Amino acid sequence: MRLTRYFLPVLKENPAEAQIVSHRLMLRAGMIKQSAAGIYSWLPLGYKVLRRIEQIVHEEQIRAGHIPMLMPTLQPADLWRESGRYDDYGQEMLRITDRQDRDMLYGPTNEEMITDIFRAHVGSYKDLPLTLYHIQWKFRDEMRPRFGVMRGREFLMKDGYNFDVDKDAALHAYNRHLVSYLRTYERMGLQAIPMRADSGPIGGDDTHEFLVLAETGESEVFYDSQITDLKFGDREIDYDSVDQCRAVLEEFTSRYARTDETHDGALFNAIPEERRRTARGIEVGQIFYFGTKYSEAMGATVQTAEGSKVPVHMGSHGIGVSRLVGAIIEASHDDKGIIWPEGVTPFHCGIVNLKQGDAAADAACEGLYKALTAAGLEPLYDDRDERAGAKFATMDLIGLPWRITVGPRGLAAGVVELTSRRTGESEELTPEAAIARITAIYG
Ligand SMILES: Nc1ncnc2c1ncn2[C@@H]1O[C@H](COP(=O)(O)OP(=O)(O)OP(=O)(O)O)[C@@H](O)[C@H]1O
Ligand SMILES: [Mg+2]
Repeated sequence: MRLTRYFLPVLKENPAEAQIVSHRLMLRAGMIKQSAAGIYSWLPLGYKVLRRIEQIVHEEQIRAGHIPMLMPTLQPADLWRESGRYDDYGQEMLRITDRQDRDMLYGPTNEEMITDIFRAHVGSYKDLPLTLYHIQWKFRDEMRPRFGVMRGREFLMKDGYNFDVDKDAALHAYNRHLVSYLRTYERMGLQAIPMRADSGPIGGDDTHEFLVLAETGESEVFYDSQITDLKFGDREIDYDSVDQCRAVLEEFTSRYARTDETHDGALFNAIPEERRRTARGIEVGQIFYFGTKYSEAMGATVQTAEGSKVPVHMGSHGIGVSRLVGAIIEASHDDKGIIWPEGVTPFHCGIVNLKQGDAAADAACEGLYKALTAAGLEPLYDDRDERAGAKFATMDLIGLPWRITVGPRGLAAGVVELTSRRTGESEELTPEAAIARITAIYG
């Protein structure tokens, strides 16, 4: 993309309404525009990051054997009357009446709808295990929408639902989700710690929230500092292996890590004092096992091998796709702007032409742009007729991890400059070497 042809409405001033850094930077970098409280348009740059995050979520879900689909945003109230949640859910549910006077709602989550789909089509244990998921907009009429996309009213969520013949099988699905979530967040450059949590209106006993540590997080968290040494990394995992998935769960839940809802002072104080940490965290996902809560209420049964009919065991699993955009920025920025991890960056690198209109500089930038594009990468070429300082400021603000700077003086010596946004370190190398380096980084 060439910046002169793009739509990047960068703000010069700090927007007064933004209380936290991610909200401020998303507005300043022209990623979002508020349309109503807690409801946003995703402008091109923000939309690109959202799509990258979504893509990682899809890839990791599919790797774990989960099946993508798409359910609608609007749901009939009757389904929720069956589970009893139509009345229980309260003011957070946006209720709508259509022209036929039917009660509808904008889905805050999809347990009822997926259970309805399941009961219509599945009747035998032979069709299990089954995990279906979708990535769809949700609406929750939050009392205090704030912090930009972090606590929106309309937000994008991945929600998945497992159906299993018994509790053991459903717990394997739970563990499998935990593993796939660890991989998912690490690919986004985040450390998200699974913490024992409270199940809230979804119900059930087994639940973990995934928290990214950040001062601006809304949850208070308590943990043993050893938990932050754990990395999933690029280890091989067989998602069908009950033992392998359980071992990962055991490893990642072997140290104390809880949110304030489930915090246990006695257990916490048993940890050596120098390892006790109290901090704040952003919830970027949650997994639940809730057994037969919905299947019993809604009559979702399967026939067992012995011929009896049993309610199916279920769990649900959510990732806050749009919240993640903010969470990543909270975890990765400096006073100049965003620092995107390579896994989610909207463009792979920036190209800054220090002297637009200079024949050699223009030609070198064009060459870099074409070569990087041909290598399957997306560069953002700042081809505006602007001062170098303004171009650098824009690049730093929007946070592309790598910048290639091209100017007549360097070119006379046969070099361009490659700069890391994270470290600020620069190195001079030939344009060919710069292309090879960027290609290798994303290879
Ligand atoms: N209002 C919101 N805006 C943006 N993302 C949200 C919002 N509510 C929930 N999410 C994201 O969706 C994920 C799954 O939804 P879940 O039902 O677990 O949310 P929740 O526990 O009610 O969230 P919270 O405690 O933050 O209100 C959450 O982990 C979070 O990342
Ligand atoms: Mg939650």
